[in-house]
Amino acid sequence: MPRRRRDIEFDDVVMVHCVPRPQDVIFRNELHDLVADKKLRLLEVHTDTDGMLDIARLDELVPDWAERETWACGPAGPLDAAEEHGSGHGVQERLHTERFRPGDVVAGDGCGGEVTSRATGKSVDADGATPLLDIGEEAGVLMPSGCRMGICFGCVTPLKAGAVRDLRTGEITEAEPGVLVQTCVSAAAGPCDIER
Ligand code: FES
Repeated sequence: MPRRRRDIEFDDVVMVHCVPRPQDVIFRNELHDLVADKKLRLLEVHTDTDGMLDIARLDELVPDWAERETWACGPAGPLDAAEEHGSGHGVQERLHTERFRPGDVVAGDGCGGEVTSRATGKSVDADGATPLLDIGEEAGVLMPSGCRMGICFGCVTPLKAGAVRDLRTGEITEAEPGVLVQTCVSAAAGPCDIER
């Protein structure tokens, strides 16, 4: 969150980074080098232990957030919350968001279906708009993940049966030997089995 141009204080940048565990922070070593050089203030939120970031905590983490230009990227839910928060404080023009999933995907857009984790034997009903990663985690399945936005491929798992829909493009992928799917950007397109 660099300060606005009129308040320039070089290198006055705050980064709030939310990931499940410390080792999930992308470019963590490089970011900590910037911290050591006093070019960055890095606030890591580890959701496995700290829980999901409540946007209301921004006042506590970055007290002058409303005076800064803010760039945010991530899953739709936190970005929606950030936009609502910015609007509520009348600073929506200073918030710049980058979405990696279409914002207008809503439950019911796809057909959904029962998702089964072969590794655990758990099956849950999923709608056609919720990422398999979220579905699995809500069911208590330990799912591999990273960026949660379709970039790092840290969440890929074999699709063993059925079909999934890419939430970014709408493209359907059907199970066949060797097919991997990114669970963070894929939703059930009918009943499906995934490895994890
Ligand atoms: S978690 Fe990074 S691509 Fe899915």
